Amino acid sequence: MAKVKKKKLKIKWKNFIIFIIIVFLLCFLLIKGTTTIYKFITTPKPEKEIKEEKKKEEKKDKDLDSEYKKLDYINKQIDYFREENLQRYLKYKESNSKLDNKQIVIDVNIGLDYPYYENAKESKHLNKDYILVNKYNYLTKDYVPNNLETISTTYARSGMKLVKDAKEAYEEMAKDAKKEGYTLIAMSSYRSYTYQVDLYNRYVKKDGKKAADTYSGRPGYSEHQTGLAIDVYNGAYDYTNFGKTKEFLWMQKNAHKYGFILRFPEGKEKETGYQYESWHYRYVGKKIAKEIYENDITLEEYHATHNIK
Ligand code: DAL
Ligand code: ZN
Repeated sequence: MAKVKKKKLKIKWKNFIIFIIIVFLLCFLLIKGTTTIYKFITTPKPEKEIKEEKKKEEKKDKDLDSEYKKLDYINKQIDYFREENLQRYLKYKESNSKLDNKQIVIDVNIGLDYPYYENAKESKHLNKDYILVNKYNYLTKDYVPNNLETISTTYARSGMKLVKDAKEAYEEMAKDAKKEGYTLIAMSSYRSYTYQVDLYNRYVKKDGKKAADTYSGRPGYSEHQTGLAIDVYNGAYDYTNFGKTKEFLWMQKNAHKYGFILRFPEGKEKETGYQYESWHYRYVGKKIAKEIYENDITLEEYHATHNIK
């Protein structure tokens, strides 16, 4: 019995010693590792390495400078020049040599160097009322705006909805127009993704895809899905004749004061991607609407000239 006990005690001692050795080894490795990392972080880089890095940086700057030269230093003059688009500016300039540099930058920032729908990105709200949806920026199937509210039937066909701010601004505008003797009736406003699928397919069936793309957003590509766009008519003539009415002239003078812009103006088909639509207005808020109105530009041009990403 005593012999067995002695043997057990011996094994316990042996295990204890192995345990102490392992702990000791681990501590040693930990201390060694920490000092090496500390040294690595705190030791200054050798001068040679620093010089080489500096040289590399200088070469990069030089390369970029010679690229800029091909664009006549356009980067120094245009504050919405985007470094990441440099190669695209250069390529676009090659096939559009008659355009001045400012136009090159604007066009490329819009995305016009790519065919419509190619390289399209998912559109995101950049603030409450600011979102760009066009042939380069789409909304996902499940995108439904917050705060949709129904427009009063005094100023709209029944069931027309817009996002709260846009709805209130539209009602105020239509009310003021009415006071001056002008009638505004909304005949299309928020449209869901699935609604747009039906609408677009119907247009394609009627006119073919190529023609439909000139006047209808593909599903996901229509800003009606944002709840910030509205089609109006004067309650009498077909909406396609809105441009010939006195209500249209009133809108030309006043829409921006309420935060609305004519979204697809005549002569800007390339920028917007759509034919002229005298009836389609977009709520962007008073500040942006004023700037767009005063500079006679589109939302695409506004976006391209204001480093908003
Ligand atoms: N008619 C405009 C382009 C739309 O469908 O969104
Ligand atoms: Zn519309």
